[in-house]
Amino acid sequence: MTLYIPDDIVAEIKHTADIVDIVSESVRLKKTGRNYVGLCPFHSEKTPSFTVSADKQIFHCFGCGEGGDVFRFVMKHQGLDFTEAVVTLARRYGVRLPSEGNRSPKDKTMSERQQLRSVNSLAMDFFKSHLREGPGSEKAARYLAGRGISSDVIEEFHLGYAPAGWDNLAGFLAKKGVPLGFAEKAGLVVKKNSGTGYYDRFRDRIIFPIMDISNRVIGFGGRVLDDSLPKYLNSPETPLYHKGRSLYGLSVTKNICRQSGEVFITEGYMDFLALYGSGIKNVVATLGTALTVGHVRALKGFVEKAILVFDSDEAGMKAARRSIDVFNSEKGLSLFILVLPKGHDPDSYVREKGTSAFKELAATAQEPVFFLLESAIRNYGLSVDGKIKTVSEVAEYLAAVEDSVARSLYVKEVAERLGIEERAMLEKVRLAAARQSQQARRRPGGVFEVGGEDNGPDDDVDEVARAYSIEYRMELQIIAMMLHVPEMICEIEEKNVLDFFTNDFLKSIGNIIVTHRAGLENRSADIVELVDNDAGKRIITALFVGDELSNWTEEGCRNLINRFMTSRARRSDNLTQMIKAAEENHDDRLLDELLKAKGAIARQNRMMSAKSSSEL
Ligand code: CTP
Ligand code: MN
Repeated sequence: MTLYIPDDIVAEIKHTADIVDIVSESVRLKKTGRNYVGLCPFHSEKTPSFTVSADKQIFHCFGCGEGGDVFRFVMKHQGLDFTEAVVTLARRYGVRLPSEGNRSPKDKTMSERQQLRSVNSLAMDFFKSHLREGPGSEKAARYLAGRGISSDVIEEFHLGYAPAGWDNLAGFLAKKGVPLGFAEKAGLVVKKNSGTGYYDRFRDRIIFPIMDISNRVIGFGGRVLDDSLPKYLNSPETPLYHKGRSLYGLSVTKNICRQSGEVFITEGYMDFLALYGSGIKNVVATLGTALTVGHVRALKGFVEKAILVFDSDEAGMKAARRSIDVFNSEKGLSLFILVLPKGHDPDSYVREKGTSAFKELAATAQEPVFFLLESAIRNYGLSVDGKIKTVSEVAEYLAAVEDSVARSLYVKEVAERLGIEERAMLEKVRLAAARQSQQARRRPGGVFEVGGEDNGPDDDVDEVARAYSIEYRMELQIIAMMLHVPEMICEIEEKNVLDFFTNDFLKSIGNIIVTHRAGLENRSADIVELVDNDAGKRIITALFVGDELSNWTEEGCRNLINRFMTSRARRSDNLTQMIKAAEENHDDRLLDELLKAKGAIARQNRMMSAKSSSEL
């Protein structure tokens, strides 16, 4: 966007726009109490957990955690940046925007993004036309045909050809009036080492345009037509193209993915096109990079299950293990791993064996735990020592499985496969879980959860986790109270309640609310904007929308504060018992964590008693 949009106009649009209207255009909403609910457009679900509040003008999904104001909804839903979302809403509601002349230096990057898009689009047309005619076009078309790519697929994915020669594209762009410095920024040309001028990055290569989610071209990949190296060349990172976030093909396959609820993730252009061309259309590809959290997030809005397809070589196995970690850190999508028979990639497999053979094979995709189990067994063998190593690797994974039913079924199967006692396996998983919950507690926002039920069996290790989650929940309720009953903020401040929060992240949100309490009396969504990270925004919108948290009485508020303060004091007794148990079990890492926690609490207790005696 070339416009700089002043804050007051943004505010005007915000006051004019109705989030219920906007969301209704794409989601069927039903009124329930104060709110509206519907099926979340950002993740796949069968029962509605997507909630819109007309009073607060915000949305929140209790399923996937997405949430925010009307701008956030439009950005996320249509794949726009903030300014583009503002413009879209301005048009919709007839709010006049300032004229072109009114620019801000701060907005230079936005104008640049749009210009980069149009340069990319010129280049794409250039490559496409050179696949149709001109020097080398026949050779290129023959290559694609030889690899089984149909003309429909060529059309649909805008494949092209970059002719041989050093300055075909550079000359074309210059003639169109594009400054070559700009084409360099788009990654299309490269500055010459000696002398002046630029040369084409892509020469004598098949071109695969890479699109964003709205099907606008943001980068390119190019493959040689023979065995020369490098086989593939991709656009460098540009203001538009970030390889850690882009998924090849998603703009075309997103609706099919949403319908099927599952996606195959492959590693290459050719693998993608082969599967797509053979009728397996719920597919995307990561390009020349390992799977990232950004990729997983991009998929979350569309599917609930991802099947990663890997070659069976060492590199493939390694990539699979890394991907499991990535999925673990980002939850919300279930992961399956499909390892192809030796010597095959998805392209060669589907061409040689056919679509239904691929589908049959896909049905054997493994859940991560069984993939890890089998590859650990392959690595370490089934000797006693090998089993011990395997158990601790698998336990680390199982500890992070949140569904307790799934976890206990896994434990059983793993124990059976290894011929060990289920109890022994369970013990390992519990220890790993205790360690992980200690670590999670220190990670801000990592344990976000609203109104969830306690889960997990009654045992002392889960007790550690539960103690912290009760604490966390109480802190969350205090934040909710501050939002819903701003009159209580004064008391929170006087009693220094926030100082006793164990979760630094919630504490920082609390402090923001204290600082901006005046704004709270008018419009809720303004507070949402003051928090400058997504996790914080999600927490606040969730608390605003949550019905169960909104029936506050003055007495209830006071009670909450008192319960919290006394629980902070009592916690130290529990800790002493936990420390004793950890000592007996020789669990040094857990012990270390607990001792640290004890030190911190002792310091806080001293502060608290100093305060209360000074009050007397
Ligand atoms: N890749 C890359 N740069 C390379 C090699 C590979 O960016 N030098 C990326 C490409 O996106 C490629 C994917 O990694 O599609 C997988 O690479 P590889 O398995 O080597 O190639 P294939 O996809 O099998 O390609 P082809 O079938 O065309 O040989
Ligand atoms: Mn291949």
